[in-house]
Amino acid sequence: MATTPTISRAGSSIPGPLGLPLVGAKASMIQLYQRPVAFLRHMYNTYGDVAVLAKNDPMLMFAFGPEHNFRLLSNPDLFHVKVDTFAKRIPPGTALTRIWFTNLLRMDGDLHKQQRRLMMPSFHRKQIVNYHNDMVDQTQRLLDRWKVGSQLDLLREMQRLTQSVAVKTLFGLDDEERLERLGDLLQKVMKVAMLGMLMPVDFPGSPYHQVVKLAQKLEAELRAIIEQKRMQPEATDVTAMLVQTYDEDGEKLSDDQLIGHLFTLYVAGHETTANALTWTNFLLAQHPRVLADLLDELNAKLHGAPPAIEQLSQLPLLEGVVKEGLRLFPPAMAGLRVTTEACELGRYEVAANTSVMYSQFITHRMPELYEEPNRFKPERWFTLNRSPYEYLPFSAGHHMCIAASFAMQELKIVLAMMLQRYRLAVRPNIHLSLALRMQAKPGMPVSIFNQDRQFKRTPVRGPVRDMVEIER
Ligand code: HEM
Repeated sequence: MATTPTISRAGSSIPGPLGLPLVGAKASMIQLYQRPVAFLRHMYNTYGDVAVLAKNDPMLMFAFGPEHNFRLLSNPDLFHVKVDTFAKRIPPGTALTRIWFTNLLRMDGDLHKQQRRLMMPSFHRKQIVNYHNDMVDQTQRLLDRWKVGSQLDLLREMQRLTQSVAVKTLFGLDDEERLERLGDLLQKVMKVAMLGMLMPVDFPGSPYHQVVKLAQKLEAELRAIIEQKRMQPEATDVTAMLVQTYDEDGEKLSDDQLIGHLFTLYVAGHETTANALTWTNFLLAQHPRVLADLLDELNAKLHGAPPAIEQLSQLPLLEGVVKEGLRLFPPAMAGLRVTTEACELGRYEVAANTSVMYSQFITHRMPELYEEPNRFKPERWFTLNRSPYEYLPFSAGHHMCIAASFAMQELKIVLAMMLQRYRLAVRPNIHLSLALRMQAKPGMPVSIFNQDRQFKRTPVRGPVRDMVEIER
């Protein structure tokens, strides 16, 4: 059996910056928060595949590359997802705790397994076919609103679209006004929740007070929808499916659990998908040859119409474009796990309760896995096969995105419909930054034209230029 001769005492000899006296890792933490991509790259390039945020305060570690991804993501008993930063501050048993803290991303062990098993059928390939029409309809509505010659922020438009797809597919309400109200409420809770929970002091006007009230209102709405779905056994939206699902032991999701899961499905689903759509459009606008080939493929197969469900698997370049966009700009750039006991990570020993960060972004740019890693080459996916730990925009293992197929379906439908109808030109010389928190969030101003195939690359400024090498 292979031995690991250089195991260190927990944390002691793991490489990393020294850390300032008294301040410890906090200065690096700020950098990580402000410029995550640059910081992750710096850590990997300077210290290698395993590093600590600060040697005098090894509260957070990094583990980069497929082997570590595998170790972190396929050992759910050793590496938990649960990080209790806010949970301890909020009184249990309230609408806010049910909405914010009851979800798969905060569950480990048997509870996670059981709840995920109950949710899986709603995202099974056979089921997501039912969401196809909603995805097409919502996209059509957005594209009908766009005016040729106008300018708009593509990111905001994509967020609006993915938000309406999420609300429609999750709740399936026909009353458009009610759907819109619900969408607004979900957005408001998302916006104020973090601030509110940072300072959980309840007085009229405080952010915490606001989020508590909004959570109560949202919970009441969700309970009413759940009740309504019980009366509609024929409905096929996600809530209806979740209400109807029982496991083999006759167990089902409780209403309290449903409320938390529904909120998280909304939160986890729309920003990630909007970011992927925005970056993929940017990449296409910068690569006119790929865009021309893609349009040829779409026109030959779809003749200007939205893709039917069975056509989605017959568009290899579209598939390559989507996968390559998610490789270069994975909406979740990195993820976190916490050790439940002292354990080994590579050549090092790590203490219990250490947070370990893995990174999709770093893995996806490794030259040993991807030739010319910084180039946008969708055709590489015609022949390239990568393991789930080498290509992981949706993460991998036990907590892998439950809706990966749903998201791929949405990305393909929206891109196919948009590109056939419009040409988007990124506004020249805009500063595109990757100071993106953990999620890529560019504001992307574009001009709208009819699809006249007059593709022209536009010069952009800012850190994004180091992220993709563009063929001249
Ligand atoms: C391009 C779009 C998307 C990307 C890149 C993405 C990415 C991810 C990633 C990286 C994780 C794992 C996080 C971790 O392991 O810590 C995850 C989990 C999850 N995602 Fe997505 N996601 C996308 C779309 C969606 C959509 C549309 C939904 C819902 C409709 C969704 C619902 C979830 C849920 C519920 C989980 C938790 C799974 C679990 O813990 O078992 N995601 N997603």
